[in-house]
Amino acid sequence: SRVVKLAVIPGDGIGPEVVAEAEKVLDAVTANSDVAFDKTRFSLGAARYLETGDTLTDEDLDAIKANDAIILGAVGGTPGDPALKDANIERGLLLRLRFTLDHYVNLRPSKLYPGAAGPLADPGEIDFVVVREGTEGPYVGNGGAIRVGTSNEVANETSVNTAYGVERVVRYAFELAERRRQQLTLVHKTNVLVHAGGMWQRIVNEVAGEHPGVAVDYLHVDAATIFMVSNPSRFDVIVTDNLFGDILTDLAGAVTGGIGLAASGNINPDGTFPSMFEPVHGSAPDIAGQQKADPTAAILSVALLLDHLGLREESARVTSAVEADIAERLGSRTTTEVGDAIIARLRA
Ligand code: NAD
Ligand code: IPM
Ligand code: MN
Repeated sequence: SRVVKLAVIPGDGIGPEVVAEAEKVLDAVTANSDVAFDKTRFSLGAARYLETGDTLTDEDLDAIKANDAIILGAVGGTPGDPALKDANIERGLLLRLRFTLDHYVNLRPSKLYPGAAGPLADPGEIDFVVVREGTEGPYVGNGGAIRVGTSNEVANETSVNTAYGVERVVRYAFELAERRRQQLTLVHKTNVLVHAGGMWQRIVNEVAGEHPGVAVDYLHVDAATIFMVSNPSRFDVIVTDNLFGDILTDLAGAVTGGIGLAASGNINPDGTFPSMFEPVHGSAPDIAGQQKADPTAAILSVALLLDHLGLREESARVTSAVEADIAERLGSRTTTEVGDAIIARLRA
């Protein structure tokens, strides 16, 4: 039987609440299969930092790397908490993992399931995937500030875009579009960000030549937000940079029934490092500890994990159970009740 080594990082806030349900679902769907998950838990996040001063040590990183995959809840404290001012858990932990483990594809599917309470009156079918670049852009930390705190302060945050980094994520997006509805949209801001935008557009045009069956179009990011609300059916695969992809995928979550349903995978397609699966949402300090969080995003992240591991049937079973649960949602349920309802459908 196959053993998959899985690192589990519950994190902060609602992270541990939703990961508990995701783990229950993973255990249930693999109960009678010939794959076993050998789990190692890592206590990382704002809580660990406040206790020990550590964000992510080299030892943690080595231990995490020794796994086949990672599941993460959410990390980060209440925005603006002075006790966390010097920590920057998001950069020191989450982004350090994404960068070190070369998660250059941040895969964020959005689907409007029947019964999901989306805000659009007449949404049509929504089923698209944002392929967000995960290792470059304004996220890399190539910046600095001088004269901090004075009226002459200068603060720079440079967006880093390499031909190597853009080409590999664009290739992934085209291959994904081939397996879907053969439609790819580049989202950028080429009218203003001419240097990076020009390179993204050129690389998309070049790779498009190898995929004559894929229809390619382009939208500026501001216009893309209009279409995501007014005509979301027009999208199949969106490829975009790290920051645009971050913003677009919270919007995509909102139009498909809420951020509590939005799953993601931080993928290292080469398989050199473990890929990491996590909800799109954060630690939600406003509802943490109250069993109010929807664990569905974490559970659908398990479906992405299973698919990534080649466990297609198990993945499809989780997705179907979630789909059935969404179709028949009534009243408000606790985090655990949602997890239990999905598990009951898996066992049925
Ligand atoms: P957030 O996603 O945590 O919360 C935004 C809103 O969505 C809140 O009202 C919250 O209650 C709601 N929400 C989020 N997940 C939900 C769920 N599963 N069910 C029901 N409602 C849900 O974003 P934020 O408030 O900007 O960030 C809070 C903290 O999380 C910050 O420290 C931020 O940096 C961090 N963060 C971490 C990750 C991550 O670990 N991947 C992602 C985003 C934000
Ligand atoms: C996300 C989050 C992260 C991001 C933050 C917490 C670093 O918002 O996963 O979408 O911006 O990528
Ligand atoms: Mn985000």
